[in-house]
Amino acid sequence: MRHAEQITLTERLFDYIDNRTTATADKIYEQPVAEYICPDIAAREEQLFFREHPLCVGLSNLLPQPGTYFTHELSGQPLLLTRAEDGKFRAFLNVCRHRGARVAESCGQQRSFVCPYHAWNYGLDGRLLARPEEQAFSTLPRSERGLRELAACESNGLLWVNPKVGKTLDIDTHLGALNDELGAYQLAGFHHYDSRVLTQKMNWKLLVDTFLESYHFCVLHKDSICSIFHDNLTTFDSWGDHFRICSPRRTIEQIRAVGTQQAELLPHLVAIYILFPNTVVVWQLDHIELWQIFPGADAPDESVVHLSLYTPEPAVSDSAKRHWDNNLNLVVHVVENEDFPVGEGAQQGFHTDAQAHIVFGENEPALSFFHRSISNALAARR
Ligand code: FES
Ligand SMILES: [Fe+2]
Repeated sequence: MRHAEQITLTERLFDYIDNRTTATADKIYEQPVAEYICPDIAAREEQLFFREHPLCVGLSNLLPQPGTYFTHELSGQPLLLTRAEDGKFRAFLNVCRHRGARVAESCGQQRSFVCPYHAWNYGLDGRLLARPEEQAFSTLPRSERGLRELAACESNGLLWVNPKVGKTLDIDTHLGALNDELGAYQLAGFHHYDSRVLTQKMNWKLLVDTFLESYHFCVLHKDSICSIFHDNLTTFDSWGDHFRICSPRRTIEQIRAVGTQQAELLPHLVAIYILFPNTVVVWQLDHIELWQIFPGADAPDESVVHLSLYTPEPAVSDSAKRHWDNNLNLVVHVVENEDFPVGEGAQQGFHTDAQAHIVFGENEPALSFFHRSISNALAARR
């Protein structure tokens, strides 16, 4: 976030604090419960949002140097992400062009991928370099059997893929002016510290919903984060279907003494970016959390969350590791013990006759914006 934007936001936040208000929607939004439990809607969402939509798979530091790779399967497509010797980020389907086995697992650094089945050997640029018994395939040139490449790009420290073969990916168009806002964080300089994968018995959108308001901070989180943040107080801004909500830490009061024009807001803020539809980038005091949220195997009633913590400096010393472990453990503790159990309970309640709609108040504008965008995107595909 650029400094001019921090100044504007600080003024808006002080206005909300002083007037005991928050960003608001025009009116209440009634959200159909069916959209959290309907298998047909879930199938359409999977196709539209997770099989052929630009997908953020992590920050640049997941591929810190030439020769590194990682795999990614949560979208339902087996993906292989690499940085070859030329330094370029590429994405492939992790599917051998002989008989379909996975050519790589997990993450690491190596010169090529040797398929575990019959040892076809692929470069990190996807080319088929060699195969045993070459003469048996003499009518099928190696050049025609490289790994299937996907549209991919690295932009402002974020790694993007379109998981569908043949699709293009124009990240400037996809993110619009948000790309510049994200660029100011210089995400390419952040270091991957650790990741967790959490499986929850709730719809993937309900999991996104947990990020979208601070109305619940001093109720659900009364013993954890309530004392740190102002509750029921956020800004809301959107760029296309993407949006940002910011909640001030109570330390924002320190800015009043310095003056808004000189102040740095970021140390007093949690800034939550929803990269539509399933990626949540959280600026938290001095570090980044990246949440990637996917439908689970038991969709629409299950989701899988991939959470990564990225730090401004590499964590080398024991005290730095303790510090970042504490950060990660705290956030996992809060969501696993406070947010997600409530969400799982709501998901069960959606299967009853209690109500056809849940309701988003005027003080929850990000929720109505998110679900309107989801509905519009699905309707446009009909
Ligand atoms: S399936 Fe990969 S080499 Fe045969
Ligand atoms: Fe929460």
